[in-house]
Amino acid sequence: MNKLKIGICGWGNVATGLFKTLQTNAAEIKKSSNLEIEIIAIGARRDNPKCDPGNVIIERDIFKIIDHDIDVIVELIGGVDVARELILKALNAKKHVVTANKAVIFNHGDELFSVANKNGVKLLYESSVCAGTPIIKLLNQELAASKISKISGMLNGTSNFILSNMEEGMEFEPTLKLAQEKGYAEPDPSFDIEGTDAAHKIGILSSLAFGSSLPPKDFYIEGINGIYKDDFKYAYEMGYTIKHLAIAKSTNNTIDLRAHPSLVKLDSYLANLKGVRNGIEVETDLLGTLHIAGSGAGQEATASGVISDLIYLSDSKIREVNNINESSELIDFFDLDFQYYFYIEASDVSGVMASISSIFANKDISIESISQKENLNDDLVPIIIITDPFKEKDYQELVDNLLALDSVNKIRSIRIEPQ
Ligand code: HSE
Repeated sequence: MNKLKIGICGWGNVATGLFKTLQTNAAEIKKSSNLEIEIIAIGARRDNPKCDPGNVIIERDIFKIIDHDIDVIVELIGGVDVARELILKALNAKKHVVTANKAVIFNHGDELFSVANKNGVKLLYESSVCAGTPIIKLLNQELAASKISKISGMLNGTSNFILSNMEEGMEFEPTLKLAQEKGYAEPDPSFDIEGTDAAHKIGILSSLAFGSSLPPKDFYIEGINGIYKDDFKYAYEMGYTIKHLAIAKSTNNTIDLRAHPSLVKLDSYLANLKGVRNGIEVETDLLGTLHIAGSGAGQEATASGVISDLIYLSDSKIREVNNINESSELIDFFDLDFQYYFYIEASDVSGVMASISSIFANKDISIESISQKENLNDDLVPIIIITDPFKEKDYQELVDNLLALDSVNKIRSIRIEPQ
């Protein structure tokens, strides 16, 4: 029987979830890995009424965990600056580190991996992307022989949970509240709904698949807070639903990296993953397209990924995780081509469709479909347009020209991701 002595830093939702799962699933862990994981100490600034740590030593100063006779520090405090300092101190003290903290890996990954390598210890972070749904070790090890061309999917459980519920007719706010109650949402839920959390995760996956840096250069990030219930209805009529997608795509040494809402075909794999599920498609040369789906948030799902890293460490050989590709560049978002869905609220007057169409024609943007929907009231009518692909750099002027029409009252738009 192998034994691994660990210290847990943090005593919130994720840490207490790990503590409980190590107890409830101890037999399963022993059976599958012949490993006994012993918690030597917990760094908890305060008690957590939801979990009794029993006889485990508690340190109020989380940095003191490093001084204990342990093999691995499990960093579950979240945040960036203190977490970075803690991880650096632990690595320099030649302790392995396991973290679920995507923000610290996204912002300081290159630095942290290089310090881990220098000290001959490992920094593992399976739970930082999609909780325990296996993607980090999959990219790092199982797909090591394949060339990956694209990774895309729903990487934020809260956003998928909210959009799935809106698809069924619920309002945004109560669903967000539910996601917070269930422990899916970040402490500051704006990270979920503004796309930051998904952006962190795709940045990490891009570094693994394409060697982009951590932190990456700035890239386009948009959240789900501009999506309305009605957009689902109109999208549905044209064979689409709406998902929040994070995308990393590599072509000839350039990387297309972005996170934003997107229309996806109703019959596609991603369209059918509902609720808090994360879903990822990985396009490879040797295996074709891989589909991975699982719970991407919550105590147990996160504990699963942390424990998989601990098991991996127990028979560890030091692996290189720092594979920065200096020559790859991020494509400028404004040079990309997108098909668009437009919701245009216009006055119900004769000739309105023609004047709107002419704005698209003037910018050489073809319309794939245009339809006028039921009147909202006596004066206003929604017009739904699907365009052919056009350059993102032309988008703003198009919208400005449309809004300049007296007949146009309001515009919403969502990019369509080809499936
Ligand atoms: N708030 C995150 C989500 C949790 O909803 O996916 C895991 O990163």
